Amino acid sequence: MAPPNGPTPMPRPTATAVIGLQWGDEGKGKIVDILAARHDAVVRFNGGANAGHTVIIAGQKYALHLVPVGALTPGAFAIIGNGVVVDPDALIHEMDGLIARGVDCKNVVVSDRAHVVMPYHKDEDALREVLLAGAGEDEPDPAGEPRGARADRSLGTTRRGIGPAYADKHQRSTAIRIGDLLRPERLRETLELACEIKGRTLPRLTSHPPEGVHPHYNPEHLYEKAMRWGERLQPHIRDTAYFLHDLLAREKRLLFEGANATLLDVDHGTFPYVTSSACAVLGIGPGSGVSERRIETVLGVMKAYSTRVGAGPFPTEQKNAIGDRIRERGKEYGTTTGRPRRTGWLDLVAVRYSAMLNGATGLALMLFDVLEGFDEVKICTAYETPAGRTDRFLPDAYALSEAKPVYETLAGFPSLGASGKPPTRRADLHEHARKYLEFVEERVGIPIRFVSIGPDRAQTLEA
Ligand code: GDP
Ligand code: IMO
Ligand code: MG
Repeated sequence: MAPPNGPTPMPRPTATAVIGLQWGDEGKGKIVDILAARHDAVVRFNGGANAGHTVIIAGQKYALHLVPVGALTPGAFAIIGNGVVVDPDALIHEMDGLIARGVDCKNVVVSDRAHVVMPYHKDEDALREVLLAGAGEDEPDPAGEPRGARADRSLGTTRRGIGPAYADKHQRSTAIRIGDLLRPERLRETLELACEIKGRTLPRLTSHPPEGVHPHYNPEHLYEKAMRWGERLQPHIRDTAYFLHDLLAREKRLLFEGANATLLDVDHGTFPYVTSSACAVLGIGPGSGVSERRIETVLGVMKAYSTRVGAGPFPTEQKNAIGDRIRERGKEYGTTTGRPRRTGWLDLVAVRYSAMLNGATGLALMLFDVLEGFDEVKICTAYETPAGRTDRFLPDAYALSEAKPVYETLAGFPSLGASGKPPTRRADLHEHARKYLEFVEERVGIPIRFVSIGPDRAQTLEA
C-alpha cells in the first residue's frame, strides 16, 4: 500500500550480479559459490542446460547446468527465474544427482513462467546443426532443387534445445511454461498443436538426422511425460518475481548468476555465433522481474586468457603450441559437452566492451595459474581492421572476423608466487604476475576483486 504522504521511497540496492565477460566458462560457478555464503538467494535469469558451472569444494567437484550454484550453500535459496528455459528431464536428473550426494535441493525454486525445453526442441537444435553443416548436399531439398555444396554454417550449439525453445517462447502459440505442467487441459491442447506443427516441419529439415533423433511426436506420450514432470517439480514451482520481491522486502540479499556470457548475448555478442538469451546484466530485469536498479555490485568474471567453444570469430585464437599449452594446463574441455575449447591470449578490447555493457564495478580474474611458466605473455589491446586501427569491440561476427589483434607483450612469470610458497594474498604474487594484474586494471579501468589461482574454492585471493 502506498504511504499517505507521497510515493514509496526507492529501496536500497541489495543485489549482486556475477557475469561472464568473454565467451563463457570464465569460472562464474566458482565465484558464485564463494559469494553465495554472503547472500540469501542465488538466481539464474537466462540460458538453460547449455551452461555448465563448476564448483570444487575441498576436492568435491560439482558441475551444475540448470540448478543455481546456491543449491550447495546451506540456508540459501537457489532460484530459476522466468528467463531460463528449463529442460525438466535435465533439471530432475541434476537434482537427483545432487540429492544422492547429500544436497537436499529443498531450496530449489522454479518460476512458473520459465519456458519448458521439450524433446522436439533438442531434436530441432540437432537437426538444424546437421543441416547447417551441409549434410545432405547431394540430395534435393524439399522443393526438389539440388542443395549444392555450401560452406559449413553450423553454430556449434550445445544441442540442448536452447534456440528452438526461445524461438517457441517468442512465437508464443506452441510454447509451454513450467506452470502449464500443472494445468492438464491446457497442457494437452498445446502439446497436440505443437506435435502437429513439429511433426510437419522437423522431418523435412534433413534426410540425414543425427543418431537418436526421430522427429515424430506422439502428444499422448509427451503429455504423460509432462504430467510426471509436473508432479515431481510441483513443490518447487512458484511465481518467482513475487518470491524475489518478498525476499527484497525483507532486506534479503540476492545474487544473480549469469549463464553463458556477454559475448554470447543475442543482442550484444558476436551475432550470429551467440546463444539465444540476454546474458549480460541487461537480461536480469526481464529474466527475473527484479529491476537492475536493485543491483549494487556487478562482478565481471574473466579468464587470464581467452577461450571459446563452438563456431565464431576469435581474434586472439592461438592454433599452435601456445594454444595447446593453455588448453592442457587449463583443462579447457567443455563442462557441458566435453568439446575441446579454442584457446588464445587475453583480448582486452573484448573485456573492456563487456565491462562497459554490464556496468561492472569489479573484476574476478580466473585461471591465473594457467599462465605460469610462459617466457612472455601477450594481451590484445586494439584491432587492426579494414577501416583502420580501433580499440572498440566489433559485436558482429562478420566485422570481427576481419579484425587482427594488436598485442602488447608483458614479461612472463616462472611461478605465481614470489617465494616458493603458494600465494595467499595479491602481494605474495611474483612481480611480473602483479604487473599483469595492474595492466588489466589500468586498461579496463576497474579494480580486480578476486584473483583465482586454482579450481578449488580455497585457491582464491580476495582484494
Ligand atoms: P563457468 O561456466 O563460468 O562457471 O566456468 P566452467 O565451470 O564451465 O569452467 C571453468 C573451469 O575452470 C572449471 O573446470 C573450473 O573448475 C576451472 N577453474 C576455475 N577457476 C580456476 C583457476 O583459477 N585455475 C584453474 N586451473 N582452474 C580453474
Ligand atoms: P557457461 O554458462 C561456453 C555457446 C555454444 C555455442 C553457442 C550457442 O558454462 O559459461 P547454444 O547451445 O546456447 O545454442 O550454443 O554458445 N555456449 C557456451 N559456451 N559456455 C557456456 O555457458 C555456453 N553456453 C552456450 O558453445 O557456441
Ligand atoms: Mg561453463
